[in-house]
Amino acid sequence: MKTIAIYHNKGGVGKTTTAVNLAAAFKNKERKVLLVDIDAQANATFATGLIKFQFEEDDDLKEKNVLQLISSGDFDCIPDIVRQSKDFNTPEIDVIPSHIRLIDEQQQLTRFSSSRLRLNTKLQQVEDDYDIVVIDAPHRKKNRLDRRIADGYSSGGATFFKKLIQDSIAHLSKR
Ligand SMILES: Nc1ncnc2c1ncn2[C@@H]1O[C@H](COP(=O)(O)OP(=O)(O)O)[C@@H](O)[C@H]1O
Ligand SMILES: [Mg+2]
Repeated sequence: MKTIAIYHNKGGVGKTTTAVNLAAAFKNKERKVLLVDIDAQANATFATGLIKFQFEEDDDLKEKNVLQLISSGDFDCIPDIVRQSKDFNTPEIDVIPSHIRLIDEQQQLTRFSSSRLRLNTKLQQVEDDYDIVVIDAPHRKKNRLDRRIADGYSSGGATFFKKLIQDSIAHLSKR
């Protein structure tokens, strides 16, 4: 299983666009794909058709999203949280959705050193279920949790990402 985090210090530079299209492209190559949205803006969640409710009482994401995944060490594993995208791609992709509530909780989560490893641990539990995991990260530099999660997968900025994505596509295309 290969994991790619799309991360950049700036917003509006195409991270989410890259993440959702990369995930769809891999799916269309018949790879088993998981898209993880760790941005509280939840744009990847929106793009994959999971925010269709009009009223808060219809919000079925608030108790099952990436926040629960990162908050708990032993519960709320990926199979408990994952959704199928809706009217996004044929075939649809697996998505760990984000939620606007992440904005309030994220700083608190950074105080726990174990938070950093939870996503890694839970991804390892499903390493036989997916060929590729794409993580859509937020841009805020000050957000240390996201930095650490993204840093777990990357270093060296955009050049590194470009090479990583090219290598991943080349590697997966050979299989
Ligand atoms: N390659 C591109 N060419 C033109 N516009 C783009 C491209 N990639 C993204 N955009 C547009 O730029 C805006 C920001 O993209 P987004 O992926 O949401 O950025 P980020 O996730 O980095 O904040 C969106 O309106 C998106 O449609
Ligand atoms: Mg984004």
